[in-house]
Amino acid sequence: NMCKTSEKTLVLVGFMGAGKSTIARVLAKLSGRPLVDLDALIVQQQGCTIPTIFADQGEDSFRRYETEALRSLNETTPIVLATGGGIVGRQENWQLMRRLGLVIYLRASWETLRARLVGSSDRPLASSDRSEADIVNLLQQRVPLYEQADLIIDTDGREVEDVVHEIMTRV
Ligand code: S3P
Repeated sequence: NMCKTSEKTLVLVGFMGAGKSTIARVLAKLSGRPLVDLDALIVQQQGCTIPTIFADQGEDSFRRYETEALRSLNETTPIVLATGGGIVGRQENWQLMRRLGLVIYLRASWETLRARLVGSSDRPLASSDRSEADIVNLLQQRVPLYEQADLIIDTDGREVEDVVHEIMTRV
């Protein structure tokens, strides 16, 4: 039964362009859990956009807001939580994510990510003034961190519904 999953919060992690927001939306709908998007929560809590936070206050401030937003989640019922690609960088975020529920890594190859990141304007760490080598380097640094997730789901060449179905059968 597609609709019968354990009563856990599902936390989606993965690189920019992995499809976290899209998959989270469909997963939330099909599993009957409310959707929370951490980037959207940061924007709401700070009252400014992510590019503005990066430009005016720097990445370190953004990372503090990210942890703050994660800590502010005090869910008593299960949700689907979409995170930003850099959430895995701080060890304290892992404690907070694990306290919330199951951490799921949406894995995609660089080819897939690259295709999805073309023309992405609201991502300071993947903007057009960054070289491809910089972004690949960031991905390579983060892969071992993402792999600390409880569950790894491959998404290359797959439909959203197929990925969501796999998640629902494995949690
Ligand atoms: C970031 C990813 C973004 C956003 C911010 C930083 C990152 O989220 O949190 O621009 O460090 O990888 P998405 O992964 O949803 O693009």
